[in-house]
Amino acid sequence: MIAASDFNITKIERSKLNDINLENIPFGKYFSDYMLEVDYEDGEWKTPEIKPYQPLLMDPSLAAIHYGQSIFEGVKAYKNPAGEPFIFRAYDNFRRFNISAQRMEMPVVPEHIFMDGLKLLIKMDSNWIPSQAEHSLYIRPFMFSTDEAIGVKPSEKYKFMIILSPTGPYYSTPMRIYVEEQYVRAAPGGVGYAKAAGNYGAAMFATAEAKRKGYDQVLWTDALEHKYVQECGTMNVFFIIGNTAITPGLEEGTILGGVTRDSVIVLLKEMGLTLEERSLSLDEVMEAYKAGTLKEVFGTGTAATISLIKELRYKDFVMEFDVTQWKTAPEIKERLDAIRYGKREDTHGWMVKV
Ligand code: COI
Repeated sequence: MIAASDFNITKIERSKLNDINLENIPFGKYFSDYMLEVDYEDGEWKTPEIKPYQPLLMDPSLAAIHYGQSIFEGVKAYKNPAGEPFIFRAYDNFRRFNISAQRMEMPVVPEHIFMDGLKLLIKMDSNWIPSQAEHSLYIRPFMFSTDEAIGVKPSEKYKFMIILSPTGPYYSTPMRIYVEEQYVRAAPGGVGYAKAAGNYGAAMFATAEAKRKGYDQVLWTDALEHKYVQECGTMNVFFIIGNTAITPGLEEGTILGGVTRDSVIVLLKEMGLTLEERSLSLDEVMEAYKAGTLKEVFGTGTAATISLIKELRYKDFVMEFDVTQWKTAPEIKERLDAIRYGKREDTHGWMVKV
């Protein structure tokens, strides 16, 4: 067993922070000074290393490139007003990571490697947590198969890594969304609930098609009938109809159980809304829109946090919203941000101290 003190640490000579201004940075472009790397071989995890961020050397036959045993997570670290670093709901991401690992026939990562490694890494790179509003340190844990052979079978070797990227807002303006009825993100029995790299690769074409039509993202519908709402781009999605917030349920296994989704459910209930996790058809959405009861539509995700949807196009029917009139989504965002930036009491125990 590896203890927390058993991380091999190699220090940087000079911080890249000297050359980067952390204000107004785009999502996912810059990476911090350190990264965590640990290999799985001969049925066990080797000693984890924390070392200067650097490229990997790979054999062209690397299994992950060919057959896609590759999973990841998205987590965020924030600073409170006293400048202390905290990670938002990291244990939930750790649990979901291993659910993805099991679905993809990959080894689970022990808590002491994932969580102790993550905390240590954040401590070493805490200067990289931006303090500007809407900014945070995006944490990307990931694992991929590393067998050097092109036979199709679960790999025997894997690499688990964590990299960190200081970041600003993901979607900065309200979005125009195209309801997708041809392409499919996930089907029952598939890997939709896992954060598998292939889910994102498989979404690229439909998303690019929607962009070519002038939209920002797609709203995925169910694989069998294309009638029911699933996810929106890389986000979970919420509809507020009357005083009820509705979001698709997780029981079919086609939707990612978002940590932000779960947090928003908790906060919506605290704000007094009725919350329903259930199937929601586009016909019901359209009827509510026509009746004037469809109040707000928004996406939730780690990268995106809360993203307002100002237009939904379903077949030839266009639903437009005046997002400046909305109350609920902005309040949820305000409450969530206040907890994350340490400006409101964390009554749920969401902020993990580093
Ligand atoms: C996240 O919200 O963290 C995601 O993983 C979405 C995207 C950046 C891939």
